[in-house]
Amino acid sequence: MNPFQEALDVTIRHLEEMKRAGVTHVPVRRETLEALNRPVAVAAGSPVTHPTSSGMPSPAMKIPPPVPASRTEPPDMFAERIHVAGTTKTEKLASLRQQALACVKCKHLAASRTQVVFGVGNPESELMFVGEAPGADEDAKGEPFVGRAGQLLTKIIETMGYKRSDIYIGNVLKCRPNMPAGESGNRQPTGDEMKTCLPWLQAQIDIIQPKVIVALGAVAMRGLMPDISTGITKLRGHWLLYSNIPLMPTYHPAYVLRAYTLQNRRAIWEDMLQVLERLGRPITPKMRNYFKSE
Ligand code: URA
Repeated sequence: MNPFQEALDVTIRHLEEMKRAGVTHVPVRRETLEALNRPVAVAAGSPVTHPTSSGMPSPAMKIPPPVPASRTEPPDMFAERIHVAGTTKTEKLASLRQQALACVKCKHLAASRTQVVFGVGNPESELMFVGEAPGADEDAKGEPFVGRAGQLLTKIIETMGYKRSDIYIGNVLKCRPNMPAGESGNRQPTGDEMKTCLPWLQAQIDIIQPKVIVALGAVAMRGLMPDISTGITKLRGHWLLYSNIPLMPTYHPAYVLRAYTLQNRRAIWEDMLQVLERLGRPITPKMRNYFKSE
């Protein structure tokens, strides 16, 4: 990891600890904030360019022109500002993660989150699961799919013959959608929130290059492919292409938990059998027959 990313990592961890300890505001000078808002150009093997803590460039540093901070910066402009360092997928994901952890594109989510939930798993995975957004459990732990729906997802992954750590798991939205003051529970991410956040997921997919993506539920599908208006019941089980990668839409595990019928459990499992076939993975007769009769 380069020294800038190391410093950024330590700073983020420190701020997250303060937030967990109940600190809600930290004083920051205007110049520092402006300096932090400028893009960081990081290229593999080249020195990092970034303003010094005073906000002034050091003599050896070349500073890209400032990008005006705005709540509505188009996602494609934001995507241009993502610069991934490293050569291996692990290094590239680590570089991307450092930048995502510092993201404040959605001011309301940056203010309410405990932490950014970037994604977890094997950067070399042939299979990637994509959900909609972290809930309260994920926001607390910093890992996607660790609550009840996550336990079901882990069970599905293991029944497919993988370990959870073999797979890469992420969400369209990296921050927990904020809730009105005093309200618990989770809400769905809005279209705008997902559109703003999508470049992070797109960059994760570009790095990992999985052979198959599984989109979990209608909201994740809407985030990934906003132009498709067909409902998830019709979409599931049918292959689509996302960035030239085969994508299987299926039910969200939380939906299956809510509507825990044999039909829904069989449906999600049939979609996973298609995924295994596509990946050339072994399927035993027992696997084929799960949920056929109970
Ligand atoms: N639901 C999601 O879509 N993502 C998570 O990480 C958890 C629950």
